[in-house]
Amino acid sequence: MNSFTILGTGSSVPPHRVTNDDLAQMVDTSDEWISTRTGIRERRVLTTQTLTDLAVEASRRALEQAQVSPKELDLIICTTLRGDYLTPAEGCVIQEELGASCPAFDLNAACSGFVYALDVAAGYYARGAVKKVLIVSMEAMSQMLDWTDRSTCVLFGDGAGAVVLGEGDDLLAIALTAKGNREALSIPHIHGHSPFLEKKEAAPIRLSMQGQEVYKFAVSSICRGVKKAMAQAGLTPEKVDHVLFHQANMRIIEAAQKRLGIPDDRYHNNIDQYGNTSSASVVILLDEVNRAGLLKRGETLVLCAFGGGLTTGTAVMRWSR
Ligand code: ACO
Repeated sequence: MNSFTILGTGSSVPPHRVTNDDLAQMVDTSDEWISTRTGIRERRVLTTQTLTDLAVEASRRALEQAQVSPKELDLIICTTLRGDYLTPAEGCVIQEELGASCPAFDLNAACSGFVYALDVAAGYYARGAVKKVLIVSMEAMSQMLDWTDRSTCVLFGDGAGAVVLGEGDDLLAIALTAKGNREALSIPHIHGHSPFLEKKEAAPIRLSMQGQEVYKFAVSSICRGVKKAMAQAGLTPEKVDHVLFHQANMRIIEAAQKRLGIPDDRYHNNIDQYGNTSSASVVILLDEVNRAGLLKRGETLVLCAFGGGLTTGTAVMRWSR
């Protein structure tokens, strides 16, 4: 497949740590419950910085590693559930901050956003329309949670991650799905103050989720997606060198891991430090694994995410840096 290669990665998380013990001071929960049910020990939360600040920092780090200047970018795709603005798109805000001059837009596929963006970018490369692309995934989950609801506020964190793509053929397979469902997971928007609206809604933005429904969906869809993408790429489980799953719940990852037959030492996780950062999760993890020097030229990676929508995305890639 004529697609792209990853030239550089970057990430940025806020410095403020919120531990499970901190949360136990706010809602009826405990470090024991959270860590055994989810694998999360702490998460990062925005205090003084904006989400845009994180995204710009992650993008600059990826550009620096790729040795690509912002002026060379042909496209910016930003993935987010909600940026700092409804308009302009965060892609445009980041373009301005970086001093780039290419087209830019936002894409919302919830936690699967980064993998969806890889697929969109692949289309641009396939028709020869771009040479250098920035994908930046940014999420301020802390600003969409009900901090009195123990069943959701313990699960999420804030962060941003970015990749710079160049011409290549390292996307070996990609599989996306969507199954419309508002009951399992949703964050309704605020409708504003139109005087014509008959029903005035003053409720703040708030995430609600049927945890067990999402859990079952996640395990089965990860297994289906990874098997399909491995088959498309002609890979057997032993030939997969690195697995980076969406960091939503360690028990989801372990359940999928048991069913997939990929050796346990291929899995990378950082959920204990950041919780679920939605679409930023896989790309923050990719940046950490890359910067730790764990990825060798020619190795294969499986990236897999799932989330609101309900959506899923799985990509099989070769590493060529
Ligand atoms: N501390 C203590 N007790 C809690 C907490 C908490 N933080 N949260 C829930 N409980 C209680 C419940 O009230 C319930 O009590 P009860 O039995 O007295 O009614 C009990 O724990 C069990 O609750 P369950 O919801 O059955 O717990 P479960 O084992 O299913 O774990 C969890 C809940 C962690 C949410 C799990 O279902 C899960 O991870 N689901 C998937 C979530 C997910 O992946 N979401 C991300 C989607 S990504 C996106 O798009 C944003």
